[in-house]
Amino acid sequence: MLKNNLKIGVFDSGIGGLTVLKKLLQGFPRGVDFFYFADTARVPYGSKPIETLRGYVGEIFDFFFQLGIDAIVTACNTSDSILSQREKQNLPVPYFSIIDPTVRAVGSIAPKGSEVSILATSNTVRRSLYLRKLFRYENLRRITQKACPLFVPIIEEGIWEGEIVDAVVRYYLAEINRMEPDYLILGCTHYPFIRKVIEASISQKTLLVDPADYILVDLKNWIGETGDKESRVTYYVSGNPESFQRILGRYFQREGNVIPVDLVDE
Ligand code: SIN
Repeated sequence: MLKNNLKIGVFDSGIGGLTVLKKLLQGFPRGVDFFYFADTARVPYGSKPIETLRGYVGEIFDFFFQLGIDAIVTACNTSDSILSQREKQNLPVPYFSIIDPTVRAVGSIAPKGSEVSILATSNTVRRSLYLRKLFRYENLRRITQKACPLFVPIIEEGIWEGEIVDAVVRYYLAEINRMEPDYLILGCTHYPFIRKVIEASISQKTLLVDPADYILVDLKNWIGETGDKESRVTYYVSGNPESFQRILGRYFQREGNVIPVDLVDE
């Protein structure tokens, strides 16, 4: 069935999910109304208590339901890792995980004896969902993960290259570079903002994996064919709309329709 004007809610703690949205817009130039929620007033999620985050994510979902969305895309690995499978399945609309399709892709393409590392926030590492799910694949020999808590604040600050990024990347990747894994998963949607620096610092043998590529595949399988009306995006931010607008201009080279939202007062 041809689906037109599908309403898809995409959310993240901040600007990181824009790296997912960019790929979704390339994959669906037509037929989809995207609603992007950035919880910029409460970013970062990576180091906050998990119960607090569950409350935040619940508020974002309620907000999406009021908008009448047809599906939720998690453009936030931390949020994906704190929700239980049952909670995801019991939502009134389909929920698209960012971790599951990435694990399936890496697990199925990696040759026998492959080594995989994951860069992620402290909470994603603590929850170890990537690690636990990848362990089920017998073709993988060694799976390691590394928390990189400084990446998100730097990226949210708009620092995507230069000496600060070089130093922090060198600091977090030293150990991984000694291991030279075959695959390195960018387990936080903010990290593609500094992809070039990460890429330049790792072994040529290591393949960088961006989970946004795989959530797009899952969404394509669900949506199938879309109508021909140009896709649109409405942005909702809990923090400062002007600074978010500046980031949009830098990242997409165009302004967006940005609406401030106070979730607490909703
Ligand atoms: C963060 O807010 O710390 C990043 C969340 C994520 O994308 O995992």
